[in-house]
Amino acid sequence: MKILGINETSHDASVSLIENGNILFAGHSERYSKQKNDWYVNDSLIQDALSYGKPDAIAYYEKPILKASRLLLRGGAGEWNPKFNIDGIPRKSFGHHYSHASAGYYTSSFNDAVIVVLDSVGEYNTSTVWVGEGEKIKLKFKQNYPISFGLFYSAFTKLIGLMPNQEEYIMMGMAAYGDWTRYYKEVDEYFPSYDKQKYNFHQGINDWGIIITEQDRFDIAAAAQMVYEQRLNQFMRMAKNITGKNNLVFMGGCALNSSANTLLWNIFDMIWIMPNPGDAGSSLGAAAALYGKHLNWEGPYLGHNLNNKYPVIKILNKILEDGIAAVAVGKAEYGPRALGNRSILADPRDPNIKDKVNLIKQRELFRPFAPVVIEEHASKWFDMDFTSPYMQYTVKCLRPEDIPSVVHADGTSRVQTVNSKQHPGLYQLLNQFYKRTGVPVLLNTSLNIKGQPLLNDIIDIKEWELQYHSKILT
Ligand SMILES: [Fe+2]
Repeated sequence: MKILGINETSHDASVSLIENGNILFAGHSERYSKQKNDWYVNDSLIQDALSYGKPDAIAYYEKPILKASRLLLRGGAGEWNPKFNIDGIPRKSFGHHYSHASAGYYTSSFNDAVIVVLDSVGEYNTSTVWVGEGEKIKLKFKQNYPISFGLFYSAFTKLIGLMPNQEEYIMMGMAAYGDWTRYYKEVDEYFPSYDKQKYNFHQGINDWGIIITEQDRFDIAAAAQMVYEQRLNQFMRMAKNITGKNNLVFMGGCALNSSANTLLWNIFDMIWIMPNPGDAGSSLGAAAALYGKHLNWEGPYLGHNLNNKYPVIKILNKILEDGIAAVAVGKAEYGPRALGNRSILADPRDPNIKDKVNLIKQRELFRPFAPVVIEEHASKWFDMDFTSPYMQYTVKCLRPEDIPSVVHADGTSRVQTVNSKQHPGLYQLLNQFYKRTGVPVLLNTSLNIKGQPLLNDIIDIKEWELQYHSKILT
């Protein structure tokens, strides 16, 4: 039986198609419409999904009437009325947090885990704890709107002049340049414990006063990150206590905070964060919820297929000659991070390469870049005793002088580890680069311009090449 999962009426609409536990396709709306964080699915995306066959059932990622009731009774921003449907195909809706929990647990290798979902808000729930045992998922704890980890973080994102629901990752990056102690007391009063907040952050923060200097923005970001990490730590310890589980599945938009995620290794033995933990991952979550069993998870390369092979030698030569290579190969990543298939790869040894890549991508010059490293070498270059195949953890770099362009101001890096099974082409490329240079690391950043979606298909590639006069290796 084929199940089409749909997520729309929230930032980051997406579509997934599964059949008997196999994931046939999963893609993001924005990559087709070219509208960043597109709220609705579109015909090209649906066509791409349905090229794998017609669904027998549709699974929707939240309960529209329940969400409408929250918007009416309790307020908040958002839409509730999905536009997409196929007549004659049965349709079932699942709770917003249940879809997140299902996306996480059913793609994990665990048969026994605590599942924590933290986001801004779905229908009413903002923070939930579930237990996954065998193929069953049961709710153990819930916290409702307006107390919300996600809304707190987004409100501070907005306060320092960034776009909420979109640029939280920039605030996280800015935190490394700030002094968290300067505004800690003030920020802490807004979120004194995981179940207490000063007011409804959906309305933004309106009693802060004027932010005068640029350094203030960085210091507020650092304080907000610190308070978030402390509340997260508190919440996770509570979740562990009430369930007694040592394996964590972490989902919801908050699971994209790679700096905070690293701290969770102090609490749990094993952690699984699906590479698309935010709402965009919930089309797969809804489909998995309807299937009701674990999926065959083979990796995040699930989107539009360019049907080409990894041009390892071409990429290697380009990086050795020019320092930078743009790459578009195979199936697009399902999730916000480019993990090798829609990536700009560069030589991390060159301290100037960071500025060059930032200029290509038209990004702020302070923004850090991430390293991709051969899994077997990861612990020699970075302070980590776990793998990070989807760039979900920020760890201390042990040899910053050797790879300066992938180290953040605070000495950390958001690492992607690669083994031969996960991505044979990228693994081979890293090994070739290692043989030539003695460095098993490359800089890896998304193939896009700031504020625009990742490149998706051949039309995007041609447009990029015309506009920027630079070739993409395919
Ligand atoms: Fe969500």
